[in-house]
This record gives sequence, structure tokens and C-alpha cells, in this order.
Amino acid sequence: MSVEPDWLKRAVVQAASLHPYVPGKPVEQLLRERGIGEAVKLASNENPYGPSPAACEAMARALGEVHRYPDGDAAELKAALAERHGVSVHHILPGNGSNEVLELVIRAYAGPGDRVVSSARGFIVYALAAQAAGAQPHAVPERDGLSHDLDAMAEAVDDRTKVVCIANPNNPTGTVHGPGALQRFLDTLPRDVVVILDEAYHEFVADLLGDSWRRLSHPGLVVTRTFSKAYGLAGCRIGYAVADPGLLEIVNRFREPFNVNLLAQRAALAALNDAQWVIENVEAIKRQRARLESFLEELGVLGVRSHANFVLLHHPQAGEIGQALESLGIIPRPLGPYGMSDYLRITVGRPEENERLMDALASIVKGMGRHRA
Ligand SMILES: Cc1ncc(COP(=O)(O)O)c(C=O)c1O
Repeated sequence: MSVEPDWLKRAVVQAASLHPYVPGKPVEQLLRERGIGEAVKLASNENPYGPSPAACEAMARALGEVHRYPDGDAAELKAALAERHGVSVHHILPGNGSNEVLELVIRAYAGPGDRVVSSARGFIVYALAAQAAGAQPHAVPERDGLSHDLDAMAEAVDDRTKVVCIANPNNPTGTVHGPGALQRFLDTLPRDVVVILDEAYHEFVADLLGDSWRRLSHPGLVVTRTFSKAYGLAGCRIGYAVADPGLLEIVNRFREPFNVNLLAQRAALAALNDAQWVIENVEAIKRQRARLESFLEELGVLGVRSHANFVLLHHPQAGEIGQALESLGIIPRPLGPYGMSDYLRITVGRPEENERLMDALASIVKGMGRHRA
């Protein structure tokens, strides 16, 4: 009989409280599970129109260089981002997706005995990263079940709270707070609390929010952005933080040397300069979102209006609706991990994908109504 070594036992105990992030189901997995020939994925809030042609060209040009390590400092990209935000390069920290940046900041500033405050139905990665850092996640219930309760979050901040996380707009609820409400919230916090303002969906509310780094003021403010959503580069894994240089200098010590790969650096730089492409895509996605939300409203299953590139369906049998959609080759995102099993999150797709979704939903939901009657 083999005896487990102590290090393995310790690791098992430590890992028992950790839960892996459950991503959207990949198309290939659904095809295998259902034995069907094709499917559309509306589960991960990706840009349905693909990456910008400029980003593709930049990556194609860089392919012959991938035998070399990337610039570990991502200097060119940092310079472009610094210019965009009107800050120095020392205010910018790129990461392997904004997810890595979130984890690094939490790891750098919260540890055993500390608390990380977020909204109960806020992006789930904050709680997972807090646990992985040995800190205690503290989830504050939403005001109306869907929108961050900033007053309650401020009250939840105590001496042990080192980091507060806000997704704005939030995933999975799509709700947003304007700069006035955010600044009032920041003004109530102790100056040494780190506040992560996660703006993964910023491009969809750019008019409302502007540049939060310039508009908001708090010494420990960390604004994070990503190239995974509006910029169409989810597969490249690239995002970044804007924050005080002293704060980032500490975070930088937790980062691996070449955390942003070569293709991602080149693609992000090209996409950043392809501003018109991003604007047109965002507008197209917003038009499609409005269409989907009108349809959900008419069907009587609209959750709440979204400010991001996804919509929320609300129905007591949301789980069954999700299964029925999958059987028709459409992958939505079930929200059980957020305690929202009566909701489905559905990414806005291309027009033909959305039509397919609406046809499927009309027959599934109306069929359920008939069944109940
Ligand atoms: C609110 C929010 N923050 C961060 C991320 C992480 O994005 P990425 O790591 O691709 O930059 C996501 C991804 O879905 C998100 O919804």
C-alpha cells in the first residue's frame, strides 16, 4: 500500500477549498457530446466578427520570429497604452489576459488573514483568486439581485480588507455604475485599500465612463482592460492594468518574466491602432444586442438590460432552456456558479447566429408555456 507523502496531503487540504473556473463549453466538446455536425458558441462573450485584419497581418508578420522570446517588458505596447491613457509607461502592466493581471494584483496585496470584497454576483474570478492567495473572499449581495450595492460594499470594508473588486459593466449581469457613483464609493474607502475596477467591457460603455483612470481618483485604484472582448483577441490572451507606478512595481515582482507572448503583443498593438474597426464592431454588436433584448422582452424572458456584449435571459426553467439550445447546436452560458440558475447568459453573435438563436428560443419557450398550460 502506498503512503501519501506529507507534501501531497498538505496540497490536497489546501486545494480542497479551491474551485476551478468553469469556462464556456467549447464547440468541439458539444459536437462530441451530441453527435452533431456544427454549433455556435454564444458562451464566452467573444467578438463574433473575429480579430481585426490589421491584428491578423501583424501576427502573420511575426510568425517567423517566434523562435525568440518576446520583449519581457512589452515596451512598445506599454508605450502605446501609456499614450492612450495619458500616463507614463510605469503606470501600465500588461498581462496574459486581464485575468492574469487580476490574479497578480490580488496575490500581491492580499494573503492569509486578509479579506477581498466583491459583489456576490460579480465576476467569479475575484473570489477564486482571493482563495488561491490564501485570503478570504467576502461577497456582498446586490441591491436588486443584479447590480453592485456600492453602499453595502463600502460598509463591508473593514481593517482586514486589502482589495475590493468591481466589474463595470459587470459579468454576468451586464449592469453598470457611472463615474459619479464610483467616485462617491471611492471617497468612502480607506486610502490604503486597493480597488480593482475591471473594465473588460469598457468599449461598450465608453461614452458613459470615459477614461476611468483620468476621471476617478483613489491612491489604490487599479483599472483593468482587455483585448479579449471588443478587440476580438481572446485567443491571444492579453489585457493590462493602469495604476500608480509604486503599486504596480510590487505587482510586477509576482509576474513571470515573459508573461505576454510575442503574437499577443504584436496583435494588440495593431488592434489598438485599428480604432475604426473597433468602433464599427462595437456599434454592430450593440445593434444586435438591442434586437435580441427586444425579442427576449416580447417573449417575456428578458433578465435586465445589458451594457456589455451579452444578454440575460430569465426564466424559472433556464437550465432546461439551456439544454434545449445545446441540443439545437447553440451554446449559452448557464449561471449556476453565480447562484443564478434561473438565468442564462447569451453572447451577442453575428446576425445569422442571433436569428438562429431567436428561432430556437421562440419554439423552446412557447413549447414550455403550452406544456405548463
Ligand atoms: C468582467 C471580466 N473581467 C475579466 C475577464 C477576463 O478576460 P481576459 O482574461 O480574457 O482578459 C472577463 C472574461 O470574461 C470578464 O468578463
